[in-house]
Amino acid sequence: MLIPKKVEAALNAHLTLEMAALYHYLAVASWCDSKGYEGSASFYYKQSAEEQTHFMKFFNYINQVGGHAEVPELKKPTSTFKSILETCKKSLEAEQKVTQSVYKLLDIAAKEKDHATQAFLNYFVDEQLEEEMQFSRLISKIELIGSGPQALYYIDKEIEKLATAQAGANTK
Ligand SMILES: [Fe+2]
Ligand SMILES: [Fe+2]
Repeated sequence: MLIPKKVEAALNAHLTLEMAALYHYLAVASWCDSKGYEGSASFYYKQSAEEQTHFMKFFNYINQVGGHAEVPELKKPTSTFKSILETCKKSLEAEQKVTQSVYKLLDIAAKEKDHATQAFLNYFVDEQLEEEMQFSRLISKIELIGSGPQALYYIDKEIEKLATAQAGANTK
């Protein structure tokens, strides 16, 4: 089966966003690490690793369906943040961008009557919903806890719980 050219180009363009998400999470993890937010660092390192699996899923899919996956060019991501809350807000923004791109891909695949790519993309529709909900919940929780020095300790522990929950889900 040959992938329609327009779908191939759109999937290649999407690779940039998955890799940018990987870079973003890695930069956030490193910032958290350098500030001593260990729980958050471990959560964001896991997020980064997850983005690599997304990237490879798209990359391999393009080649599997007769296209040519190309390694994207990327800008250096923002590496300093004001607070953990800001890292969550920036992450939600990044995920929303990815979601919009997945929706656009679905529209293009539908227009090209490319049912295989639509089926491939369904996994990412669910995945994006989960990611956006995760950060929305986290932002509400942090806003509720507040931003004092003790609050930071609890926030870091809350985020660490997410990393542990993810590790559990990944072994299923
Ligand atoms: Fe992703
Ligand atoms: Fe993501």
